[in-house]
Amino acid sequence: MSRIIRIFDTTLRDGEQSPGCSMNIEEKLMVARQLARMKVDIIEAGFPIASIGDFEAVKRIAEEIKGPVIAGLCRALDKDIDRAAEAIAPAERKRIHTFLATSDIHLQYKLKKSREEVLEQAVAAVKHARKYTDDVEFSAEDATRSDMDFLCRVVEAVINAGATTVNIPDTVGYAIPQEYGERIRGLVERVPNIDKAVISVHCHNDLGLAVSNSLAAILNGAGQVECTINGIGERAGNAAMEELVMALRTRQAFFEATTNIVTEEIMAASRLVKSVTGMTVQANKAIVGANAFAHESGIHQDGFLKEKSTYEIMTPESVGLTRSTLVLGKHSGRHAFRERLKEMGYVLGEDELNKAFERFKWLADQKKDIFDEDLEAIVAEEVFRMTETYELKSLLVSSGTGRTPEAEVVLIVEGKPATMKANGDGPVDAALHTIGEIAGTKSTMLAYEVKAITGGTDAQGEVTVKLSEDGRVVMGQGSDPDIIIASAKAYINALNKLAFLKDKGGKAAEPMCE
Ligand code: KIV
Ligand code: ZN
Repeated sequence: MSRIIRIFDTTLRDGEQSPGCSMNIEEKLMVARQLARMKVDIIEAGFPIASIGDFEAVKRIAEEIKGPVIAGLCRALDKDIDRAAEAIAPAERKRIHTFLATSDIHLQYKLKKSREEVLEQAVAAVKHARKYTDDVEFSAEDATRSDMDFLCRVVEAVINAGATTVNIPDTVGYAIPQEYGERIRGLVERVPNIDKAVISVHCHNDLGLAVSNSLAAILNGAGQVECTINGIGERAGNAAMEELVMALRTRQAFFEATTNIVTEEIMAASRLVKSVTGMTVQANKAIVGANAFAHESGIHQDGFLKEKSTYEIMTPESVGLTRSTLVLGKHSGRHAFRERLKEMGYVLGEDELNKAFERFKWLADQKKDIFDEDLEAIVAEEVFRMTETYELKSLLVSSGTGRTPEAEVVLIVEGKPATMKANGDGPVDAALHTIGEIAGTKSTMLAYEVKAITGGTDAQGEVTVKLSEDGRVVMGQGSDPDIIIASAKAYINALNKLAFLKDKGGKAAEPMCE
């Protein structure tokens, strides 16, 4: 009989902490709805004390999302725990997730506390959290670099204090699978009350081992894995949910374990997270990369055509990848459009569908065939866009040999039109410079990337920009058959995100320590 491994999704907390991946409340809600559709067991909705925006997002998710447990993260401090408790209060099922470092490095340099003081603080935090809910998770931050005897003492003490889940994070992505597995086994064997709690693992990917480490932990007794969609997260990211879940599904007999996840929803979740964060997915990324199910070599294709299982260990359909039988174009109607979006995992309301369809009709006039990637871009722009401070009304650019590129932009700023003309080193520079002048931004552009969404000269250009201002980093995306317009849209999208973070007291830097 297979054990069920609990999936604890932290896309909205650890994932959102990665540079440029901040999401607004509506975007977080859309992701939370998709996570609920996938049947994740626990959604870590945010870090309520980090900012007003974080608090509100956790509260809205707690109010709306039914099914999964809603968790709020907090340091092992009463004021953090109170704030988290307030944010998750409306949830049907709620969890307080409190953390405190246990490694000597963190104790000495960050916390400046002795082991005894940390032990006492951890116990006090768990007891305080238990006043609000009987579902309390304690994380021993930097557990993989903590002294094993001390870690065992902390785990035993927090379970006695009422922790129902004990998380053993590989905070800095330092662990090696065999060693990490042994650490988990060591806890199972040495902590006398370990059967009173679920062991959780939370792995970062600094050495590219987050998923392998999590699987090693499962083999040694872990009952919960913490992970994110597309593996987004601090630095090199967290363990990718889709990889963990499909490893368990594909090798269920080996692991004698499985999950509750509706795997057919994986692609939709991946696309959604990509759209709202602007964080692209590499083509060769396992499970959700564009090439994950593509067979290129002749020998492979030959074998695959004779018998799929020769080169395919899981079907594209099992992760929700459906090959389109419909090619959409300008004669396609609303019905075909809606059906294709549904196949791709986008369940849109009437208004959203209308907006997306209007854009589709416009695009179909510009280019002959509309591919899935085009539809993804349409949904990202027309549906997943935040309430706009800045909106592009019109853009005119003149450039050519022997003349200085010049742009004339009309931007709607909080409902009012503002017009300006300015020059630049090239047409894109002129457009962005003019938009920046109107918006009066002090942001710095950290990255600018342009790629064709599909093949052919009529392909849409997809532009991603990364901006930084006052310690906040955001990504913006825009697509259009005209790459100057796509660039302007991406830049405006990023400026809107900065404006949103400023308004909502969005985090500039996470208060991860006292
Ligand atoms: O990586 C980490 O240790 C964390 C904890 C807060 C669980 O994200
Ligand atoms: Zn983490």
